[in-house]
Amino acid sequence: MAHGPAKGIGRWLFTTNHKDIGTLYLWFSFAMFLLGGFFAMVIRAELFEPGMQIIKPEFFNQMTTMHGLVMVFGAIMPAFVGLANWMIPMMIGAPDMALPRMNNLSFWILPFAFTLLASTLFMEGGAPNFGWTFYAPLSTTYAPDTVNYFIFAMHIMGASSIMGSINIIATILNMRAPGMTLMKMPMFVWTWLITAFLLIAVMPVLAGAVTMMLMDINFGTSFFNAAGGGDPVLFQHVFWFFGHPEVYIIILPAFGVISHIIPTFSRKPLFGYSSMVYATASIAFLSFIVWAHHMFLVGMPIGGELYFMYATMLIAVPTAAKVFNWISTMFRGSLTFETPMLFAIAFVILFTIGGLTGVMVAIAPADVQYHDSYFVVAHFHYVMVAGAVFSGTAAVYYWLPKWCGNMYNESMAKVQFWVSFIGFNVTFFPQHFLGLAGMPRRYADYALQFSDWNMVSSIGAFTYGASQLLFLYIVIQAIKSGKPVRDPKVWEGAEGLEWTLPTPVPYHTFSTPPEVK
Ligand code: CU
Repeated sequence: MAHGPAKGIGRWLFTTNHKDIGTLYLWFSFAMFLLGGFFAMVIRAELFEPGMQIIKPEFFNQMTTMHGLVMVFGAIMPAFVGLANWMIPMMIGAPDMALPRMNNLSFWILPFAFTLLASTLFMEGGAPNFGWTFYAPLSTTYAPDTVNYFIFAMHIMGASSIMGSINIIATILNMRAPGMTLMKMPMFVWTWLITAFLLIAVMPVLAGAVTMMLMDINFGTSFFNAAGGGDPVLFQHVFWFFGHPEVYIIILPAFGVISHIIPTFSRKPLFGYSSMVYATASIAFLSFIVWAHHMFLVGMPIGGELYFMYATMLIAVPTAAKVFNWISTMFRGSLTFETPMLFAIAFVILFTIGGLTGVMVAIAPADVQYHDSYFVVAHFHYVMVAGAVFSGTAAVYYWLPKWCGNMYNESMAKVQFWVSFIGFNVTFFPQHFLGLAGMPRRYADYALQFSDWNMVSSIGAFTYGASQLLFLYIVIQAIKSGKPVRDPKVWEGAEGLEWTLPTPVPYHTFSTPPEVK
């Protein structure tokens, strides 16, 4: 390399700057969000009415699988790693991430992994068709040949996550500014510190699961094959020992974001800071000991079912403490409702609905009815979309002026909020009814009595999808031609916008002013 900073594409390929890498992560995750969203649109178009209209059932299975994999591993996780890269060094007063070159590597292997995964759509045998949970023997004995590409992609993605986590932990533990003790760290930093430990604990378990699959498929082992002395239920234990903490890997940084936005727009410090830290830590601990609540139907002993049922319900305690703290933060605050706050409040309400339906499906005897129905689909989309995606969107609106120095168009953003809020609920709330009425998930077609709510759900999905294109437009418009935040006209008459000022805010928020070009 020549001396001096690289120009053009080289700047992005060779960058070790945490802000550049954060930007790369965020754009990559948004591209994956649109791709996974496109798959969702195909699914909802096929389910718009009963009868086969658009795609074959085999391709439908590939769509549900790719939608789940791309959204979980390609969109949501990298989005929060992007936010971590941008914000953590600035929040703790560090000049950059602790391991900047590894930071570059952990991003740049991701596009490779997901190109590999997406390319299976064009290969003989088609893309993975066994669901994002890839249960054996569907993913081993009966899998298309392209499953090996899937396994390789998962390994690369896992390596990227582990490297990212090592970097985050090393940065937080070693590079805090003098005086920034652990219990003074902003909540987003705390939630990411705990999330990074979760990732390091469970990504190797995922790697183990796909490696056992690789061995069963190609090298004649029988980990998951009963005919050879193995056990398919072992797969579910291994997968969910990864999979349940994975849910909290996705949602804990979202909690962190919300714990910043609500105090800002309530003009009060976060209520119960230390209880928030301890609640986050106890949720993380509990997430390791509840995994078999996904497996109530495999024929567990009754004692096992009771244990996993009660342990799961225990998670409601620290989670409710968090919701209580957010509401108490808003209580008697001088609230204003700019777009980030709208998304944050929607998060609190809708995530709580997702949490309550979570308690419902955790009840082992009732889960016999809920299991593999659209009720479960509705439940986890309230957690994943109204939880993780809404908070990610809130974070972009909240921090975009700090990142690019420009303000987004507030009225357009509010339109975007309401369209996505309504679109989301119209999509997923009826799926509770469909599930309770007995509609199973992951089928390309359904009986006539499910027609009405499916049509409503599909209309909601197209609306929600369109709102994301508006979001893309708003972000690009802000970056290219938004009003600079230092221009006093930007917050003229808008008293609630002091937060765009690049001045240090005391207590739990920024410690260093952001750079504005
Ligand atoms: Cu779980």
